Amino acid sequence: MIDYIAEINRLKREKHAIIMAHYYQTGDIQDVADVVGDSLALAQRAAATDAEIIVLCGVHFMGETAKILSPTKKVLIPDVNAGCSLAESCPAERFETFVKAHPEHTVISYVNTSAAVKALTDVVVTSTNARKIVEQFPRDAKLIFAPDRNLGNYLNSITGRNMLLWDGACHVHEQFSVERLVALKAAHPDAPVLAHPECKSAVLTLADFIGSTQALLDYTSESAAQTFLVATESGILHEMAKRNPDKNFVPVPPNDSSCACNECSFMRLNTMEKLYLCLRDETPEIIINEELRQRAIRPVLRMLEMTNL
Ligand code: 13P
Ligand code: SF4
Repeated sequence: MIDYIAEINRLKREKHAIIMAHYYQTGDIQDVADVVGDSLALAQRAAATDAEIIVLCGVHFMGETAKILSPTKKVLIPDVNAGCSLAESCPAERFETFVKAHPEHTVISYVNTSAAVKALTDVVVTSTNARKIVEQFPRDAKLIFAPDRNLGNYLNSITGRNMLLWDGACHVHEQFSVERLVALKAAHPDAPVLAHPECKSAVLTLADFIGSTQALLDYTSESAAQTFLVATESGILHEMAKRNPDKNFVPVPPNDSSCACNECSFMRLNTMEKLYLCLRDETPEIIINEELRQRAIRPVLRMLEMTNL
């Protein structure tokens, strides 16, 4: 029986590798990682690291973003099939047609997109910096936002913009049950509802706080509440409980399922065994055509700049 924690730590030191994990990974992967963060934090750390190998425990677009920013590093992901339904809802060929049909528009894309879609984009955003970046454009600017219609609608409502939205969505965040959330609220009347802006507006309407994965996490530490109803991928509960051992976190369940919580099947393809094998064998590796990478990096660097303004 392999001691995965010991072997992963040994290989990491030997190979001068850094393990980065998104909050939606399982707790064991988060615990063995050097960096745990949301999409923005992972991109920022990938741009800054001096490690020779980056193992990105998350989904494919996160590995691609790391490779776009750190082309001389070897970027590995534990399971090459860890895609993203939201990124897949925006195929580059169709998106190119859409962008060409609106030539006077500035294109803002969520980081949950392929490198090919980023290459068609003027500025990338994550859920953490989206509001700040959108508000840097004039109120009457002609903007396209892709691919998440729920996040786009939410941004339009809080920024007073009227961005043209691509009709995409995340299969996890679309699935939260309004009925079951209402029942949970009745059972926990003092518990604030925390929701990720990729959720449908019917869920966001019931939320006390809407924010990115990082913002929801910070809220749980800052709030005096004892119990929280959490409407985002349930992997985040691991870090919430770690930071707040005396508080209770109740995952909001999906629609027609006997399951009590809502997991991203793509994120959950990664396991400790696959992480160990990927570090040992240095595969699967993210490779991006250099000409495509050059076009995709511009909007990502612009995001990093605008985040700090
Ligand atoms: P964050 O920007 O909160 O990390 O969201 C990423 C994601 O995939 C949400 O489903
Ligand atoms: Fe993509 Fe949704 Fe999974 Fe996030 S939770 S990685 S948006 S499918």
